[in-house]
Amino acid sequence: MATVPALHLHHVTVRRGEVEILTDVDLDLPPGRFLAILGPNGSGKSTLVKVALGLVAPDRGHAAIFGVDAGDAPERIGYVPQLKTFDRTFPATALELVVSGLRRRWPARVPPRERERAVAALADVGAEHLARRSLSRLSGGELQRAFLARALVRRPDLVVLDEPATGVDFLAEHDLSRLLERYQEETGATIVMVTHDLAAARHHASDVLVLNRVVHGFGPPEEALARDCLERAYGHVGHDHGPVIG
Ligand SMILES: Nc1ncnc2c1ncn2[C@@H]1O[C@H](COP(=O)(O)OP(=O)(O)OP(=O)(O)O)[C@@H](O)[C@H]1O
Ligand SMILES: [Mg+2]
Repeated sequence: MATVPALHLHHVTVRRGEVEILTDVDLDLPPGRFLAILGPNGSGKSTLVKVALGLVAPDRGHAAIFGVDAGDAPERIGYVPQLKTFDRTFPATALELVVSGLRRRWPARVPPRERERAVAALADVGAEHLARRSLSRLSGGELQRAFLARALVRRPDLVVLDEPATGVDFLAEHDLSRLLERYQEETGATIVMVTHDLAAARHHASDVLVLNRVVHGFGPPEEALARDCLERAYGHVGHDHGPVIG
């Protein structure tokens, strides 16, 4: 029997007004893989991830996670959203943020068992000391770690991260990728990570998707990151604004 894909996208098309921001995206990712999604700004990466999570309904096509409709298996998924727009003034502590990953809502009161699990998840990402700190007093990198702990606290089968290391003072993206690899070794989980870091994709991903409204490349890093795929997605490469091939 064929394995049920961890992530299945079939002819996914999303329109915003007159513009198609994703066109006919097909993808099958077997469980246990580490997928890096690359593409220029505005190329539809976050939208694609949101379709996979069931947060955006496609205008056409279909998305499934482990064989069930996107959105119907939230307990199997840990999500680190792109943090550009997160409201830091939200009155909560790092611990409460992590506990919200156990409950899918903000906790009014945190029972000891949940507190223990949340503190352990923070410790796993090197952020135990931040537990009582309010979100408004976290640096960008600290907030990113708290979100990572929130995503992993339920030990999900699929971890989806949208630019988890971009523009923040996190451990280098390399360290983040290693942490995810360790989690994957322990649990057999599938990882999907949006990134602008070609080196991280090359070194850590088992599969790479190069996206710019349509799929320009999908396969092992050496195939999907070939110059012709990148040139189709980015216009051209190796100049100040495109990715540096190295
Ligand atoms: N809710 C929305 N309404 C209108 N346009 C949208 C909406 N969401 C996204 N878009 C547009 O769709 C395109 C793709 O956006 P998306 O956020 O998916 O890109 P991205 O690849 O994640 O970019 P970045 O690298 O900057 O994070 C952009 O042109 C964006 O302006
Ligand atoms: Mg994005």
